[in-house]
Amino acid sequence: MGEALVTRLIAQKIYQPSEIVVSEPQEQRRSFLKQQYGVQVTTDNRVVALETPIVLLAVKPQVFDAIATELVDIVAKSVVVPPLLVSILAGVPLSKLEAAFPQLPIIRAMPNTPATVGAGITAISLGSYTDERHQKTAQQLFSAVGEVVVVPETLMDAVTGLSGSGPAYVAIMVEALSDGGVAAGLPRAIATQMALQTVRGTVQLLQETGMHPAELKDRVTSPGGTTIAGVAQLEQAGFRSALIAAVQAAKKRSQELGS
Ligand SMILES: NC(=O)c1ccc[n+]([C@@H]2O[C@H](COP(=O)([O-])OP(=O)(O)OC[C@H]3O[C@@H](n4cnc5c(N)ncnc54)[C@H](OP(=O)(O)O)[C@@H]3O)[C@@H](O)[C@H]2O)c1
Repeated sequence: MGEALVTRLIAQKIYQPSEIVVSEPQEQRRSFLKQQYGVQVTTDNRVVALETPIVLLAVKPQVFDAIATELVDIVAKSVVVPPLLVSILAGVPLSKLEAAFPQLPIIRAMPNTPATVGAGITAISLGSYTDERHQKTAQQLFSAVGEVVVVPETLMDAVTGLSGSGPAYVAIMVEALSDGGVAAGLPRAIATQMALQTVRGTVQLLQETGMHPAELKDRVTSPGGTTIAGVAQLEQAGFRSALIAAVQAAKKRSQELGS
């Protein structure tokens, strides 16, 4: 996820490669990142924290305690102004981040996997020491990998249930549509191409027209026709309520993991 951000921040000229410092423990990855993107690299997380105005934490949540210990005095040691800390660590709340880095402006962000191809949606929540400038910076940062919404942190578990886990639900739907096509006689490659493009095209149509999804469904269901026969089958199988329950179950699991 860190690499996805770096790639797109550079491609969109939001930052110059020379402005970005990546701390990466593995020698091979370090050389790759330096060569591929022209960024500065280091093995020392303190270099990033002390020398850059924005520190993006993009390690696994299990590594957080070690990083926090390493960077514990970055506020005191900051030469100019304390950096803005942006964390994408799933399940690590602002209270924990702010306890580790007292009085630092901190933003908690939750991108999703399509961010790696620039089509993500990131929810951000603002810490107690942030101001409008920090919010704008984080919005600009994550706009490089897709859309950005600002939510109170209390909604982060719901965000996880919908946009965080959602790519898996949609992937299952695409796979199942393709299976349906094969069951109906289509070759697999054509069935998958049709499933993918039908999902993509429908999303684009809804986004570009602003049409309510129910209206689009009504427009393609003619009386006694094929689509209503399919829709009736989906309703009988509980498709709609299964999706609602999936988002709620993932939200609940996110709450359990965070507590
Ligand atoms: N992937 C997603 O779709 C997604 C979505 C939302 C949130 N997130 C969050 O994003 C974070 C990163 O996830 P990811 O999937 O990108 O994981 P990842 O591919 O494992 O990336 C973590 C990076 O941190 C590096 N690292 C490990 N220990 C370090 C240390 N002590 N100091 C500095 N760097 C260190 C790793 O280096 P090595 O590879 O060399 O060990 C690796 O480059 C996680 O907290 C996750 O919860 C991810």
